[in-house]
Amino acid sequence: MKQFISVNDVENIDELIRQGQAYKKNPLIDEALGKGKRIALLFLNPSLRTRMSTQIAAENLGMKVISLNADKDGWKLEFEDNVIMNGTAVEHIKDAAPILGNYCDVLAVRSFPSLLDKEADDNEIIINQFIKYAGVPVISLETSTLHPLQSLADLITIDESIKLTTKRPKVVLTWAPHVKAIPHCVANSFAQWMNEWNAERNDTFDFVITHPEGYELNEKFTQGAEISYDQEAALKDADFVYVKNWSSYSNYGKILSSDANWMLTEKHLQKTNFAKVMHCLPVRRDVELSSEVLDSTHSAVTQQAGNRVWAAQAILSSILKDLKK
Ligand code: CP
Repeated sequence: MKQFISVNDVENIDELIRQGQAYKKNPLIDEALGKGKRIALLFLNPSLRTRMSTQIAAENLGMKVISLNADKDGWKLEFEDNVIMNGTAVEHIKDAAPILGNYCDVLAVRSFPSLLDKEADDNEIIINQFIKYAGVPVISLETSTLHPLQSLADLITIDESIKLTTKRPKVVLTWAPHVKAIPHCVANSFAQWMNEWNAERNDTFDFVITHPEGYELNEKFTQGAEISYDQEAALKDADFVYVKNWSSYSNYGKILSSDANWMLTEKHLQKTNFAKVMHCLPVRRDVELSSEVLDSTHSAVTQQAGNRVWAAQAILSSILKDLKK
């Protein structure tokens, strides 16, 4: 693997899932693979799980890790090409990225969308400029539109939780209310990975996305999924319910609904097939998801966050194997 920005960088999803699960059983089996290699984890936005799980994964592979709050501890970067730098940015990515690529063998970057400029966010300028100028493999730690390390962990979680008796698992991604305007990355990415995985497994799942009108995600990522405005109908017989808020995509970055009826509660789960409930975290308790559900045996959120390590380790090992070629 040369880079990891989306599911499009993956040859075979099930192979990656198996690799992640092998690392979960034996975290140190490839301890020598990253010896002498260094990764920089560059955060332009906050993180708890992504930062820690990626560092643990890199260390399990014998890598050295530098983790930097690049927005606070580094110089303010300019990402646009051909601009006169007489504003607040101190250093151009064209100058900074080759140095980072000189110091490190792999760069990993987190950069959230502005939610103000749809075109700029969709163009993924920040991660693309790192790829253009770094000269080493780049990994997404969540970008403007996607969160692929989260999605791989999500699929590992689903794969290990499918009951033997379930012939055709039903997976539902449901919108939930939130007090803030939230990016589309996790929902886009989950949809994209579910659709690809379903295609790879010859249409094994029912995959439904449910949300209020106006919350349609970018079709580029949802194509292949069933879309429903009726949450109750969508949840019927579900085996997995992924709860997530996102702001409007068509009315870019705006909150159109705060309808508390969309918060997932025990009542919603009664129509499901004893569904496992997923959320990428951090979660707003009793806004997105009821505490009753989060604290119940339905909840898979800790398992899911734990699997972030094995997802990151599977990706890093694939990148390291490619570096050795
Ligand atoms: N799910 C996730 O990416 O968590 P963090 O924002 O804490 O990294």
